Order: sequence, then structure tokens, then C-alpha cells
Amino acid sequence: MGFKEIFGALPEASAQAPGRVNLLGEHTDYQEGYVLPTPLPHCTQVEAGRAEGRVEAYSENFKELRARPLTSPPQGDFLDYLLGVVWALREAGHGVPGARFYVRSQVPMGAGLSSSAALEVAALKALRLLYRLPLSDREVALLAQKAEVDYVGVRCGIMDQMAASLGEAGKALFLDTRTLAHENLPLPPGTRVAVLDLGLGRRLAEAGYNERRREAEEAARRLGVRALRDVADLCLVESLPSPLDRRARHIVGENLRVLRGVEALRRGDARAFGELMTQSHRSLAQDYEVSLPELDALVEEALKAGALGAKLTGAGFGGAVVALVEAPRYAAFQEALKARFPSLRTL
Ligand code: GLA
Repeated sequence: MGFKEIFGALPEASAQAPGRVNLLGEHTDYQEGYVLPTPLPHCTQVEAGRAEGRVEAYSENFKELRARPLTSPPQGDFLDYLLGVVWALREAGHGVPGARFYVRSQVPMGAGLSSSAALEVAALKALRLLYRLPLSDREVALLAQKAEVDYVGVRCGIMDQMAASLGEAGKALFLDTRTLAHENLPLPPGTRVAVLDLGLGRRLAEAGYNERRREAEEAARRLGVRALRDVADLCLVESLPSPLDRRARHIVGENLRVLRGVEALRRGDARAFGELMTQSHRSLAQDYEVSLPELDALVEEALKAGALGAKLTGAGFGGAVVALVEAPRYAAFQEALKARFPSLRTL
């Protein structure tokens, strides 16, 4: 099956975008902080053609064709993301009359690996070619975020869409989410990034995520700063009432960990980088309280199996763990974890 079989014509444009794992800088992007994601080798491919007044899409993963007029509200399916990006383009004044898409994706869904950002960015890049839109990769990321927040209705930060649009394979994207200044830095030489997925899904992730955002906003308000990014001194957070003190301690500490992680990458210091990842996990578990016992156990076992560092990745409340492993030890590492967790999927 392909675009031609579904729509009776050849596609006029195509593009792809990767999923991501975040190495450091978790829950910092909605407080204007620093993040350090890396793209996955797994991508979403989108082929596109013109249409008038409607958005149509066939998903190879769901084996489903869906179509709705441009004016229809979101309905909780994959077509929402495609209607969302067309809506965002039209809102921004780009005369996009509609589109049809053929979508296939290797990015695991529901594992916190940003399959939705990959779909939005791939669709926008295909539309950029199809309608010759004068958009930079950074503008693509911002439009993808607008689609997700204002159309689909998920209050995410900008990390995932920037990683999908600007990330480079084998590199970490050091991004300042306040200014959107960014730099792609090589991963530590001689290491592999392992993504460990127990298929936990994400329990109550959206409610928990929104609650953490509100707590972070309240902490920033009480500290009299525009965003927690502006708190450089960790001692300041101790004046906050519980649990805001712990929430702010995570975010302020996590920004420092990203900056230290960037220094470690510049030195090629894999060991220091791994330690920062593990510290990030402990902070996410104890201070930010977005981990689960299963994720904590997986992190501990990954460390026992020889990882230089490991942490949950993405919003938490489920999803996957990311570990940094010395390349020569990767096979033994994978084998040890498979023996311990038979249902584990490693990417
Ligand atoms: C989700 C959001 C991101 C970011 C992470 C947590 O993936 O989409 O914007 O906030 O959670 O680091």
C-alpha cells in the first residue's frame, strides 16, 4: 500500500522527522531553561499532496484513512496532528488550502519518545515543500508546538519539536528554550545511547504534567522571577513551602546539570556525563516526583548492568529510560537487562 493506491495520484512532496530521547534537562523547557535531547534513528515519514478545504490522511500504522474539513475540531485521533499543523499554518497567514497525507512511522507511540512531534514536524516539512512556504526549521518547530498546544490541546514545551526539526543524528541538541539559541554537540566518543522501554504507557501523564507546570509557575511567582531559569542560586529555593521547594530545586538543579553536561560533552567526558544523567533521575524521582517504581528499578538495574548513567526520559509517569553505555559493553549490558526484564524492548 502507498500514497498512489490510497489517493489515486502520486505524492507531490515528502519529508521525515525523528523521535527523540532527552539526555538531560527534564521539565525545564516550560520554565525557559536548558535541554539536551538527541534524535532517535527512528523516524516518521510523510508523503503529501494537494487538497481543497479538507485534510485527509492514511496511517500505515493504524491501517486507517481519515478525512475532515479544515474547520473541524480535534477528535482524539492521529488526524488531529495533521489538521493541527494545517490550522497553525493558516493562523500564521500561510495560504494552505488543505492537504492529503500518507504516514508511516517507526517511532514507538506512547513511550514518551515524541512520536507526535515527529509527525507534526514531518508533515510541516512536507507542506513546506508542497506549497513552497518560506519557513525555517526553527519556525517549523514553533508551528508544530502551536498545533499541539492550541489545536490538539496538549500543553507541551518546545523541546520535542525543536529536537525533531533541528536535531542531528549522533549529536545532542543543546537548546536554550528562552532564546531558542542552539548547538548540536557530538555525543561522548565510544558510547551508545540505549532506550529501554518496558511498555509501561504513561499513567495520568497529562494531569501530572499540568500539575507540575502549575507548581513551577507558582514557585517562580513566589520567588519574584519571570521563570525558574532566572534562579542561579540553589539556596533561594529553600524559602519556598513544600512541595514547591522540591519542585524548584529540581528545575534549578537540572539547568545546572545541563550546563555541566555540555562542558562534559565538550571534553568528551562520558563518565561525568553519565553521572549527571543518574543525578537527573534521582532529582526527577525524589524532588519532582514524576517517576514510577518500575522506572526506578530499571534505572538501578541499568547501572548494575554497567551503564555510565541512566534516567527516565520525557515527562515521566511512565515511558522509557535512557542509558549511556560504553560501546564495547553494550551487548553484555543488553543481555543482562533482558534476563532481568523479559518484556523489555531496547532501541
Ligand atoms: C514532554 C513535553 C516536553 C518537556 C518534557 C519534560 O515531553 O512535551 O516539552 O516538557 O515532557 O522534559
